[in-house]
Amino acid sequence: MSRIYEALQKAESERRQERPEPVVAEPVSTTAVAEHQPPMPLQAEALAPAAVAEPLPPVAEARAAAPARLDISGVPRKPWTPSYTKLPALMERGSAVEQFRSLRSRLYELRDVQPLKSVLVSSGLPQEGKSFVAANLAISLARHKNSKVLLIDGDMRRYTLHQLLGCESSPGLAEYLGGKASMTEVMQRPEEGKDKEKIWQTILPNLTFIAGGNGGDRAADLSGSPRFSELLHAAAPFFDWIIVDSSPVIPVSDAVNLARSCDGVLLVARGGVTKYENAQRAQGELKASNILGFVLNGTEKQPHSGNYYGYNSESE
Ligand SMILES: Nc1ncnc2c1ncn2[C@@H]1O[C@H](COP(=O)(O)OP(=O)(O)OP(=O)(O)O)[C@@H](O)[C@H]1O
Ligand SMILES: [Mg+2]
Repeated sequence: MSRIYEALQKAESERRQERPEPVVAEPVSTTAVAEHQPPMPLQAEALAPAAVAEPLPPVAEARAAAPARLDISGVPRKPWTPSYTKLPALMERGSAVEQFRSLRSRLYELRDVQPLKSVLVSSGLPQEGKSFVAANLAISLARHKNSKVLLIDGDMRRYTLHQLLGCESSPGLAEYLGGKASMTEVMQRPEEGKDKEKIWQTILPNLTFIAGGNGGDRAADLSGSPRFSELLHAAAPFFDWIIVDSSPVIPVSDAVNLARSCDGVLLVARGGVTKYENAQRAQGELKASNILGFVLNGTEKQPHSGNYYGYNSESE
């Protein structure tokens, strides 16, 4: 068991003594995805819900009060060429599919006890797997019961989600927050595919994407714009989930700003890489937000159940 995992477990047990019983994920590990670079295992550990600022309304309720300015039918369709290697949740089956399904279940459990639609994914430092987790989680949510998911690249400095989806990077969030583009202009959906056999062509139509755009040096100022909160509220009626990727919280404050408008925050810690102190510091930076828990990404822990009865290779 890695040191970070032990440390997170210790923090969790201390937290349990102070708070009501939280929803805790059973750690699940993965095996490699066939034919592709194997994704490292990922574990979801949900912590106790904390106070939520102003939750986004449920789909039905909010649809009635939807501001007219977001014309979802006007969202342009663009060519996407998603990377299976970077998006193992797109595979028909496999350990990564299973792991993200487990993380998704934790979110649904949390949603049972609190309003939860917009989730920001962050971590303390670069390269811990925020974008990997955000994109694959969004896909996992989108393949569940035909859910509509908005994925936002909230990292306006090192935006990478467009590379994973194989689509354009601008106009994006930076242009919208800077007042240079409308919500509809920065949203994009994939063109309908011709090859119906490809599984992503049944998943991706449920996904709408806002790329990072080019925030550059203005990213910190842009992340503090009230237009972000407006975007989430205007989009809420049209989506079941809104997943926001972000920059690391220790070097820059952008994610802390964006998190204020989100219902919850998932923190990513990378097994064997993230130091306990940095995970704690990241949690401290986001203390004003509703931290849902840590996703332990890239651990070396082996599966509990292995491939027993083919559990890990179940198709969705
Ligand atoms: N569980 C995993 N399995 C395989 N590869 C992974 C996993 N998690 C992350 N990676 C890879 O590690 C690299 C860094 O991940 P990612 O870009 O998601 O990190 P990040 O926290 O978003 O970084 P940054 O702060 O620079 O935006 C990427 O190449 C990504 O594909
Ligand atoms: Mg990233």
